Amino acid sequence: MSVAGSPSDDSHAIAAAAERRWAIIVGVIIALLVAMMVLTGVQWAAMPPSRVETVDPRTLHISGEFVEGNLGTGIETDGRVIARLVAQQYSFEPQCIVVPEKTPVTFRATSTDVVHGFVVGTTNANVMLVPGFVATFTTTFQKTGEHLMPCHEYCGTGHEAMWARVQVVPANEFLTRAGRGERVSCVRR
Ligand code: CUA
Repeated sequence: MSVAGSPSDDSHAIAAAAERRWAIIVGVIIALLVAMMVLTGVQWAAMPPSRVETVDPRTLHISGEFVEGNLGTGIETDGRVIARLVAQQYSFEPQCIVVPEKTPVTFRATSTDVVHGFVVGTTNANVMLVPGFVATFTTTFQKTGEHLMPCHEYCGTGHEAMWARVQVVPANEFLTRAGRGERVSCVRR
């Protein structure tokens, strides 16, 4: 029989208080995680992720915007600068991409075979290329210069040799080269 105020009652009260404290902490953590999920969900609904456009990888080279003659960087009729490229084991097409400085550039890219990806130098331009989907992102390069653009998704035995270059050139130089609706690249011919 236990008496009120005995040592066993004290330890029971201490244990109950500790459990209540931990229950509150865990409850707060769960509430935070749920709030993060809801917030990112709502934000993503407002800004859909990039891989929502589909394309048939079997007919890429025959028709549509990713035919060879349309790859490279060009100025659209509405004035936007678009860089189109295709990734395949183990190269990018074009191998050297020209973009204007201080101008928003939209990349549109896809893969013909397996999952690839690329990052442009130390910029925030970083994307995953999934066959069947068009990856798009828009970025602005603030400085002229050349960046390496390696594939950053393991795509097979030739993965580490898969890379391209991105040349950032002054905007007026780019305008002169792309002004006639041509597709610009810095691939040596
Ligand atoms: Cu393509 Cu790794």
